[in-house]
Amino acid sequence: MARVSVLGAGSWGTALSILLHENGHDVTLWSIMEEEVNMLIKERENKQKLPGIEIPDEIIITNNIEEAITDKSILVMAVPSKFVRNTAKLMKEYVSSDQVIVNVAKGLEDETLYTLVEVINDEMPDNKVAVLSGPSHAEEVSRKIPTTCVAGCTDENTAKIIQDLFMNTNFRVYTSTDVVGIEMGGALKNVIALAAGISDGIGYGDNAKAAIMTRGIAEISRLGVAMGANVQTFNGLSGIGDLIVTCTSMHSRNRRAGILIGKGYSLDKALEEVKMVVEGVFTAKAALDLANKYNVEMPIIKKVNEVLFTGKDTKKAVEELMIRDKKIEY
Ligand SMILES: NC(=O)c1ccc[n+]([C@@H]2O[C@H](COP(=O)([O-])OP(=O)(O)OC[C@H]3O[C@@H](n4cnc5c(N)ncnc54)[C@H](O)[C@@H]3O)[C@@H](O)[C@H]2O)c1
Repeated sequence: MARVSVLGAGSWGTALSILLHENGHDVTLWSIMEEEVNMLIKERENKQKLPGIEIPDEIIITNNIEEAITDKSILVMAVPSKFVRNTAKLMKEYVSSDQVIVNVAKGLEDETLYTLVEVINDEMPDNKVAVLSGPSHAEEVSRKIPTTCVAGCTDENTAKIIQDLFMNTNFRVYTSTDVVGIEMGGALKNVIALAAGISDGIGYGDNAKAAIMTRGIAEISRLGVAMGANVQTFNGLSGIGDLIVTCTSMHSRNRRAGILIGKGYSLDKALEEVKMVVEGVFTAKAALDLANKYNVEMPIIKKVNEVLFTGKDTKKAVEELMIRDKKIEY
């Protein structure tokens, strides 16, 4: 049994804290939002984000960061990507170097172009930081629907510890030491999901979506490899696996936002309608900046940026992708 804290009480943090409790661990769930903590303590359910899923009484729910960090061996960071640095800043006053941090958020920091593990290590350089990623909607994990993920850490033993922590009969976990590959797959699939949603919203068919997914993973791999990742990781759960689920599921807020944009909504209107954080919008620009930095061609991600931030007509963007220079496939 491990003493674990999950930081961030949204859909994913709540689902993971229940899973960890069911695996026999001693779990604390922390949120920065006092009202959210009070609501969760009172209701023992997140009616808005994970309706119908009971949060067991044994899970301690707190707004106190010191209580969340002290005496825990593993700290799972489950806040949306844009809050990762600030949460790490709050944590670092209480963290000791033997605590393992597991990041489950997906994204990039747009000002620095850092991956989230780099952001966490920037704030807490002495801690081992692992990741858990893969096709894993909280709505399904919380209903014990079979799910597979990959636990990554540059230190293989730590990856195995994280595998053991999360794994059960409904949740199978593989290990990897390719943290950059896992992070880039998880972050950039959200941008490709926006493109897949836009294609669906325009009314294009399965052929177009399959093309976006296949060429999408090709461009994600190109950038990932330039950044030092292993190309095989992009064929795995955190690469093509997560891309498939995000581009095809209605649970995906990135795809839902894309559908609205494809139907003609402005970016602001689409975000207002989806209500939740659409991480692909934040990641799109950072991905393009990284593509320029590493001199890698990312045509789909470039067009998504033009649609989102310069108001380019969606059909025109697709047409421009279709008439690019002729290429060899691989
Ligand atoms: N939902 C999923 O199925 C799922 C699955 C895998 C990975 N993820 C990743 O996990 C991360 C969290 O996703 P989610 O679906 O739980 O998001 P969410 O929108 O449900 O989470 C919001 C939560 O973040 C916390 N929060 C809000 N503002 C904050 C702030 N300023 N500082 C710190 N914490 C704050 C609060 O607890 C809030 O409930 C994302 O990066 C997402 O990509 C989500």
